[in-house]
Amino acid sequence: MMKRGYVLLVAALVSGCEKPHPPSSVTDDWQTLLGKADARRGADVWQRGPQAGGKACQSCHGPAGQAIDAEPAPRLTGQDRLYLARQLSVFARSQRQYHTMQILGRTLSPQEIADVVTWLAQARAPAAALPALDPRLVAAGGALYGRGDGGRNIPACAGCHGTDGRHPTEAGTPYIAGQPTFYLTEALTDLRARTRVPDSDGQNMFSAAHNLSNSDIAALAAYLASLAPAATGPGRTPPAPRPIPSDHLPKPTSRSAG
Ligand code: HEC
Ligand code: HEC
Repeated sequence: MMKRGYVLLVAALVSGCEKPHPPSSVTDDWQTLLGKADARRGADVWQRGPQAGGKACQSCHGPAGQAIDAEPAPRLTGQDRLYLARQLSVFARSQRQYHTMQILGRTLSPQEIADVVTWLAQARAPAAALPALDPRLVAAGGALYGRGDGGRNIPACAGCHGTDGRHPTEAGTPYIAGQPTFYLTEALTDLRARTRVPDSDGQNMFSAAHNLSNSDIAALAAYLASLAPAATGPGRTPPAPRPIPSDHLPKPTSRSAG
């Protein structure tokens, strides 16, 4: 026993630097980081991507985090910042899968995450145009959303996400009103299948999604997509990004050489 433990310890020490490190963006101490977050630095990350290199967030999520048509991305404008920070960790650990987001989740530093989600939480943007929706689905989804279904062990979604889907009852719970139907369908299907792991405080969503049928999911997605999202009003304008420091600009390439 002892010997085996010793061998394992030595092996761990020797191979220490070759082993893949846990992604540095994974932390359980978001409250401290969010406490010293700077929305202006976050705006830089939003517009130019992580300091360490990588895609700019706005290229897929839109200039103020509103969902844009060309990308299968959700609306992030005005979203709960603790929820967003935790999702970036969940991507970094590959417990939720979308290639670019997994890479970005690992590249961003914890403070960059705290900064960018703070910027997003303060952002405002108009809602996307209302999609064409089947009114019967919308009505069925509204009933399930508001009351749940005790007989089938489905809780009322409104209890946590707010009666209008815009005012969650606790920090760490997202607003879900006004998200695109395909995104809501995918999120609920993945949570039901447990292929998208909620953060440690979000385990509630596993049980909420567990007994949903495909038609429940279609109805809930239609209902939620019919509602206005959060943060559509003028509100507080997030700070504009700072001018780009020259050492941050892409270096000119020497294509002409040779
Ligand atoms: C290549 C396009 C692309 C880029 C660039 C991108 N995202 Fe995403 N992002 C997506 C897509 C698509 C999803 C939804 C993935 C899914 O279906 O699970 C997503 C999901 C997210 C989520 C989870 C939202 C939720 O409601 O659960 C967060 C947070 C997020 N992105 C933040 C960022 C930040 C911050 C950056 C910049 C550092 C960024 N994204 C850059 C495409 C992108
Ligand atoms: C007990 C509280 C609770 C209840 C009840 C609940 N949710 Fe959630 N929901 C959460 C939390 C917390 C999260 C964040 C989970 C995570 O970490 O992934 C979440 C996440 C979600 C998401 C993902 C949002 C995104 O941007 O990707 C959707 C969609 C959702 N819930 C829909 C529903 C629906 C529909 C119901 C009712 C059937 C419901 N929820 C019931 C707490 C709850």
